Amino acid sequence: MSEINSKRKTGICKLKLTNFRCYSSLFLEVETSSPVILTGNNGSGKTNMLEALSFLVPGRGLRHARFSDVAMHHSEIVLGQEDNISRFPSSWGVSAKVISPLGEFDIGTGCEGGKEGLERRQVRINGQVAKSQSELGDIMSAVWLTPAMDRIFCGEATQRRRFLDRLVQAFDSGHAGRTTAYSNAYKQWGRLLREGCKDAVWLRALENTMSEYGVAVAAARRDLILRLQPFLLEGGGEFPRAEVSLSGDLENLLGEEPALTVEDRFRERLERSRKIFADGGYISGPHQTDLEVMHEKGIRASLCSTGEQKALLVSIIIAHSKAQIRDRGVAPVMLLDEVTAHLDKKRRGALFSILVDLNSQVWLTGTDIGSFSSLCGLGQFFDIDNAEVTAAVA
Ligand SMILES: Nc1ncnc2c1ncn2[C@@H]1O[C@H](COP(=O)(O)OP(=O)(O)O)[C@@H](O)[C@H]1O
Ligand SMILES: [Mg+2]
Repeated sequence: MSEINSKRKTGICKLKLTNFRCYSSLFLEVETSSPVILTGNNGSGKTNMLEALSFLVPGRGLRHARFSDVAMHHSEIVLGQEDNISRFPSSWGVSAKVISPLGEFDIGTGCEGGKEGLERRQVRINGQVAKSQSELGDIMSAVWLTPAMDRIFCGEATQRRRFLDRLVQAFDSGHAGRTTAYSNAYKQWGRLLREGCKDAVWLRALENTMSEYGVAVAAARRDLILRLQPFLLEGGGEFPRAEVSLSGDLENLLGEEPALTVEDRFRERLERSRKIFADGGYISGPHQTDLEVMHEKGIRASLCSTGEQKALLVSIIIAHSKAQIRDRGVAPVMLLDEVTAHLDKKRRGALFSILVDLNSQVWLTGTDIGSFSSLCGLGQFFDIDNAEVTAAVA
């Protein structure tokens, strides 16, 4: 491993949290030049800190949480006096100074609070209100691995699709917006059909939106896989080579025909499927795409051991970082929550070595400072105890 890199990397150098989950108020200053390691007992606030960082990019953060859950909940509810407590969530905020290849930015984001379900996340960049969250994606990108993703290969496709789209988003800051536009049109189209709507103009307009955005989303996902492929096949030392592919009809069609033809075909299919959908049937499309992963030993990821599955996830995000460095000159900020949990000592060492040399900032958490001992002198250690953060020595 190299000594602490004196070159200024991209990443977050100042972080301020207000009423964010367990943090009523927190200010933290770190270097972007070396990994940040947060250790502490269960429930001390480690994942919450990474979640706060994940709000510096577009989306709903690494827990995909409702914003009303993110606001600090106070526990002073006195039995019998619950009515005195506001039923509506309070406001929360995350602000940070970020170093990006484009320069330094002050980012502020959060919710004002309000009626549950109606709250919107506001974003300010250098003091100016951003028109949309996607402006954050032009400044920095971030990827994360959390314990909740440990069984991602065994669960629902939704989780894998979300992971896939997060990786795409790092290359294409408009991807999240297009995914949302597709899914909103799909939901509206489905609702209208099931309510018996026969307004062909309205339905046609939604089908146009779905085909246009759906094909753009599928094309961006295909593009990601092509970018990752060479790095995935190369493997990462202690980490397995992963064979990654997409199962999705639009993604497959795009391998055979030009995008405009695929759009036409999808639009026609949607129109033909109106009756089937209205009768309770389903249609396939980018809302069902799945990410299929095979271990180098020729076994599907879902059949691998928990440790092997974790190693595959690590292989994918390392390949992703290398592809980002090749194509954009900078890797995304990495938020690795309890990443060492299922990795053996050799793989842990190998992972740290790769992370230290990355051209972007990495945040790691764990309960045991000892499992990060090989980062001693190479990382910045902090202890978190009941939402209090102090510098620690490894
Ligand atoms: N909205 C909230 N308001 C106040 N506390 C919260 C909120 N959401 C979660 N917490 C609490 O924050 C604490 C720290 O959580 P977390 O960061 O996930 O812990 P860990 O250090 O194990 O990763 C937990 O005790 C949790 O109950
Ligand atoms: Mg945690």
